[in-house]
Amino acid sequence: MTTTPALMPAILLAVMKNQPAPLKDRHYPGWHLAPVSGLMNDPNGFIQHNGRYHLFYQWNPLSCDHKVKCWGHWSSADLLNWQHEPIALVPGDEFDRDGCYSGSAVDNHGKLTLCYTGNVEFEDGTRTAWQCLAVQNDHGGFDKKGAVIPLPEGYTGHVRDPKVWKHNGIWYMVLGAQDLTLQGKVLLFRSSDLMSWGSLGEVAGGNLGGLGDAGYMWECPDLFAIGNETFLICCPQGVVPDKKRYLNPHPSAYLAGSFDHSTGSYQHGELHEIDAGFEFYAPQTTLANDGRRLLVGWMGVPDGEEMLQPTTEAKWIHQMTCVRELSARDGRLYQLPAAELQQLRFGEKMYHGSADYAPTLDARRIEILLEAESGVTIDFAETLALEWDKDELRLARRSLETGEWQYRCWCGKAFKLQILCDHSSIEIFINDGEGVMSSRYFPRDRARITFAGHASIKLQYWKLKPCRIK
Ligand code: FRU
Repeated sequence: MTTTPALMPAILLAVMKNQPAPLKDRHYPGWHLAPVSGLMNDPNGFIQHNGRYHLFYQWNPLSCDHKVKCWGHWSSADLLNWQHEPIALVPGDEFDRDGCYSGSAVDNHGKLTLCYTGNVEFEDGTRTAWQCLAVQNDHGGFDKKGAVIPLPEGYTGHVRDPKVWKHNGIWYMVLGAQDLTLQGKVLLFRSSDLMSWGSLGEVAGGNLGGLGDAGYMWECPDLFAIGNETFLICCPQGVVPDKKRYLNPHPSAYLAGSFDHSTGSYQHGELHEIDAGFEFYAPQTTLANDGRRLLVGWMGVPDGEEMLQPTTEAKWIHQMTCVRELSARDGRLYQLPAAELQQLRFGEKMYHGSADYAPTLDARRIEILLEAESGVTIDFAETLALEWDKDELRLARRSLETGEWQYRCWCGKAFKLQILCDHSSIEIFINDGEGVMSSRYFPRDRARITFAGHASIKLQYWKLKPCRIK
């Protein structure tokens, strides 16, 4: 007999009651993934298994706050048409009673298996973390197998977000951590069966590998190779902002270098921000069967102004980024929208001439390819503006709290932009993937995009078909 998690009736009731409101909200995405009720944060368990893509997500179906953390589950054959799958993990067992936190999915002898963090909090404000497993059952749900790694010695209770992969027949895991001197670290483990794990020590972090202080907690690590380069993605909380970088409440960054699976040693360079927009966090990648390294991120950031987003009135908050394809050039990570997304395009149009005379566009669901040198300003519904100067792109948006303008910058010479808009989000891909700026914005009804400036621009644009989760 299987037991129903105690929270299940409340979850079902919340979804039944709340669900009509998000789907009627004009800010709800037309083709991005978003929760049908409550709060969604990190992408989890991104994998292609038996020909289908699976994407799990941190989900509080009950309300728009970070209290209850379940794993929701979607699947898709083509990265465009997604369907709902049974909720995968609900907290409540002694090893995950305060949340089924982030993690990854693997194919273990044909069985879809989840590796996640069981979060356990104590009355004195401390916590511990268990790394846990769950295996898919015949009903599409997941049976928890309990904890396989307890809190490692030498770290606070902030140890989480296992990303597991197989190399030469052995399982490896990177794990986000905070050491007892409050430095953020990434730990490495190895196993032959996913059940019993041995530590290979710290693979990267603050005051390691040539980095100085680099934040107090590294969340959501992901380690993978593209060609000869090994990248470590992570979210180093507490990195000190400088004038133009690391301006979000929490950053998402990567290292590039060379990694030795037998010793766990990682020689790498400096940290680089992955995305220069207002909202991007906790990305996760997977290796598709065709060899592509695909990435999805959370188009949100914890803390900051997230709770002021107006969609909470419609009982939902946050969305994913589009699925992106990664490549490497000169030790830098490049990102472009997955090729599949081109199937959403219809009604192609072009314009070549002065930005001042460019047509006004409907902002709701549109993709724009734009070539220019500089001297162009693009206004999105008088709510967000992109200022294109010679040596930087500046994204301006008003604070939801104070109404004051805030800025994010991408530093470099831009010559080509690919912009994807979906009701309340915008993703700007710069110079064929050299940079990205991802942001949410909340326009009034009938949102328009306008161009200004003397510069000559070349525009090619398409409307995008809606493609909602079924
Ligand atoms: C990142 C994060 C993870 C954690 C999860 C909890 O946004 O804080 O470190 O596992 O969210 O929802």
